[in-house]
Parts: sequence; C-alpha cells; structure tokens
Amino acid sequence: MIAVLDRALAETCGRALRYYHRFGFSGTVRRLLLALQRLLIPPGMVVFYCDMSSMCEPDGPEPPRASPLLLETVACAKNLSSSDLLRLEETSGGPLFRVKLEERFPLGAVLWLARLDGRIAAYGWTITGRTVRPYFLPLGEADVHFFDFYVFPEHRGRGLNPAFVCKILKSLAAETKRRAFIDVAEWNTPQLYSLSKTPFRRLGVARQKRITRRSGGVEWDASPPRTEFKPQTAASSYASSGH
Ligand SMILES: CC(C)(COP(=O)(O)OP(=O)(O)OC[C@H]1O[C@@H](n2cnc3c(N)ncnc32)[C@H](O)[C@@H]1OP(=O)(O)O)[C@@H](O)C(=O)NCCC(=O)NCCS
Repeated sequence: MIAVLDRALAETCGRALRYYHRFGFSGTVRRLLLALQRLLIPPGMVVFYCDMSSMCEPDGPEPPRASPLLLETVACAKNLSSSDLLRLEETSGGPLFRVKLEERFPLGAVLWLARLDGRIAAYGWTITGRTVRPYFLPLGEADVHFFDFYVFPEHRGRGLNPAFVCKILKSLAAETKRRAFIDVAEWNTPQLYSLSKTPFRRLGVARQKRITRRSGGVEWDASPPRTEFKPQTAASSYASSGH
C-alpha cells in the first residue's frame, strides 16, 4: 500500500509539474486553490435520473465518426490486458486506478470501455442494486448507479460521452434494469452539458452538511436548475422529438 501511495504521489507531482510548464506560476496557484476549495467545501451534487423501463429508443443523436464507437464490459481485473491497464492508469495518477479496480470489482461493479479504432477513448462504471459509497437515495435491486465517467482529453467536446452513456442505457434497458442514477458536482459544467444530451433528467441537488468528518446530513434541493444548462441544447430537441 505504501508503495502504491509513493507511486501515486510521484505521479501527482509529475502532473503538477507538467501543469506548471503549460499554465505558468499564476495558473498553477489558481488551480491549486480551486482544488483546495473543492476539498474543503464539498460541492452540491446534481443528481440525474433515467427511467429505463419507459425508454423506447435511448440512443441520442450521435455525431458522425470515421470509425464506430465500440462498447465492452469488464467485470474482473484479470480480464484487462496490460496495455488497456496502462491506458486507464494514465487517467488517475497511475496506481490509483488499480486501487479502484480492487475496491469496485468485488462489490459487483462493471467497468465499461468505449473504443475508437481499438484504443480506449472513454470509460465509465456502473453498479446495480447498491452504490460503492453511501448514497443520497435508497436504490432498488434493479436500479443502476452510473459513476466515474471519463473521456480521454483528445476525444472531448465531440459528443462521445453522451453517445457512450446512451449506449450503456440501451444495453441495461435490454437487461430489464429499471432506473439509472448519476450524480455530478455542481462545478462540472462539461458533464452537466454532456448529460443534458442524454435521456437522464435532473432530479435535484444534494448538499452535504458536514459537521465532523464522520457525521452530518444531506440537504436536498429539488428546485429547477439555475444556470447549469444551456438554454437550448441537443437534449431539449431530443426530448421534444418525443423520446
Ligand atoms: C465530462 C466529460 C465526461 C464530457 O465528455 P465529452 O465527450 O467531452 O462530452 P461532450 O462532447 O458532450 O461535451 C460536453 C461539454 O464539454 C465542453 N467541451 C467542449 N470541448 C471540450 C474540450 N476540447 N475539452 C474539454 N471540454 C470540452 C463543452 O462545454 C461541451 O458542451 P457543448 O457540447 O454543449 O459545447 C469529459 O469532459 C471528461 O472526461 N471530464 C473529466 C472527468 C469528468 O469530469 N467526469 C465526469 C464525472 S461524473
């Protein structure tokens, strides 16, 4: 464990250094302060919901691509090739990704991979009937929690995440799963925009009231979104097209 933490620390320092070279001193300080603020003040989590049992055609509009987006599921770490593992480790400070695998697979979580031209372009996790950490809502046996979605930087901003999420929903709906939930930090506008192009609909915002590290409560705000969505998105036209 110590070795893993050592490698993670080295990887984090390497990333900070690369950020410094790219964005300079003031940019790095701003980014560090932002990270600190997010650590100290837990953000509100926008919870989204999708009723998969009433979905007729969950595929949203998919942008044209030179090659098709192929989906794969992995339910156990030994089914990942070493090259895939290396690619996935790029995303979270190297060895930390293995810690995620060791924690999540035994709980029954499934890792979804999206490939373009054979190379992993995105990944995301789902778990059925429970969550990895305590959640804001109780889940039923056929409810699915979507979490930790990631699109590799070179593929961002091209509608890959909505297409990926829609394909997963479609696949789970065929397995007669009932409801899907996903939650996104209030500051994560790319993911909020992105989900607005899928059949997920906003349920509300859960704000954690932390009293001590171990105690506290959750305040639920179901009021309409303020600014997190663009006025007219592909999702609204998707929704108004009768799906
Ligand atoms: C959030 C994330 C999954 C979205 O994936 P995506 O495939 O880029 O999604 P979309 O193509 O729908 O783009 C969503 C928004 O990202 C922003 N975006 C556009 N180009 C971008 C780029 N080159 N780089 C980053 N963000 C970009 C835009 O605001 C876009 O909204 P728009 O299409 O309405 O303009 C991806 O940015 C990511 O992996 N982020 C880091 C991990 C993360 O935050 N995961 C979510 C945790 S639940």
